[in-house]
Amino acid sequence: MTLKGRNFLTLKDFNADEILYLIDLAAWFKNKKKRGELHDRLRGRNVALIFEKTSTRTRCSFEVAAHDLGMGTTYLDPAGSQIGKKESIEDTARVLGRMFDGIEYRGYGQEIIESLAENAGVPIWNGLTNEYHPTQILADMLTIREHLGSLKGKTLAYFGDARYNMGNSLMIGCAKLGLHFRAVAPEKYFPDQALVKQCKEWAQESGGSICLTSDVNEGAAGADVIYTDVWVSMGEPDNVWEERIRDLIPFRVTMDVMNRTAEGSIFLHCLPAFHDLKTRIGEEKGKQFGLTEMEVTDEVFRTYQDSVFDEAENRMHTIKAVMAATLEDWEI
Ligand code: CP
Ligand code: NVA
Repeated sequence: MTLKGRNFLTLKDFNADEILYLIDLAAWFKNKKKRGELHDRLRGRNVALIFEKTSTRTRCSFEVAAHDLGMGTTYLDPAGSQIGKKESIEDTARVLGRMFDGIEYRGYGQEIIESLAENAGVPIWNGLTNEYHPTQILADMLTIREHLGSLKGKTLAYFGDARYNMGNSLMIGCAKLGLHFRAVAPEKYFPDQALVKQCKEWAQESGGSICLTSDVNEGAAGADVIYTDVWVSMGEPDNVWEERIRDLIPFRVTMDVMNRTAEGSIFLHCLPAFHDLKTRIGEEKGKQFGLTEMEVTDEVFRTYQDSVFDEAENRMHTIKAVMAATLEDWEI
């Protein structure tokens, strides 16, 4: 298996064997890290990390993973570069491609990262766009495999806004790897029909399936993994909150939802999560709309926190695998 020189823009571009290879490579790096074995074979290389939206996990994962691999990093924050303001994406790509061995991009439209990939001449890694969050899915799949023992045939139910990066990417990942994916949401929050059609084709090949339902009980019944994400994503205007809260409250992950799932089921959340009011936005919106929690109750979050924080840790191991595999070949 070689992925050397490939971009990592969306899981649509990867087949099941390639995705599983990245998950296996991540598990291999995780073992090495836990045993304290150095794996800094990429000494002398450098990567650029462009963040047009804020981040805790993704940024730290890219930085720690790059350093573990022996690479230097340069972080470009949402305000601190010329990108898009004084310099086009094409020109930025050409400049950074001359200096760096790989470039991570977190930001807005997928077309921006595609343009980077067309012009940089080095691997480009998607650290989240409006449409996709592919490194997150690798971490989610590694976590599911660690907790449930396998991936194929498991049922993952995604509650909330299934039209955005997380809903789209989970549906693609499940379809490719043979999991049963359920989007549990009001109809207007279902993923794009063309993407659903494409995922149904992949699911047919892999033995998975795609189901869209607005029935919470049907969505939760017998599921192995319940997944949710914030109701309003980064970059969305403030005025969508009211409608979003009204529409999605019935789709909040509660203990009642969890009680309908399969025995041994887990809860996952890409994080950050509004499970209490201990954040500035949580407190502000809580006051404004009379809520104490949003997409998941504090009780569910605390009961299932082991899987959630394993998932967060696995961001680092899986991001390491993506950088390593697209920069070099590895014998594992
Ligand atoms: N899950 C995730 O991407 O987290 P950050 O926004 O903190 O990077
Ligand atoms: N849908 C969320 C994911 C955060 C990791 C967002 O785009 O803000």
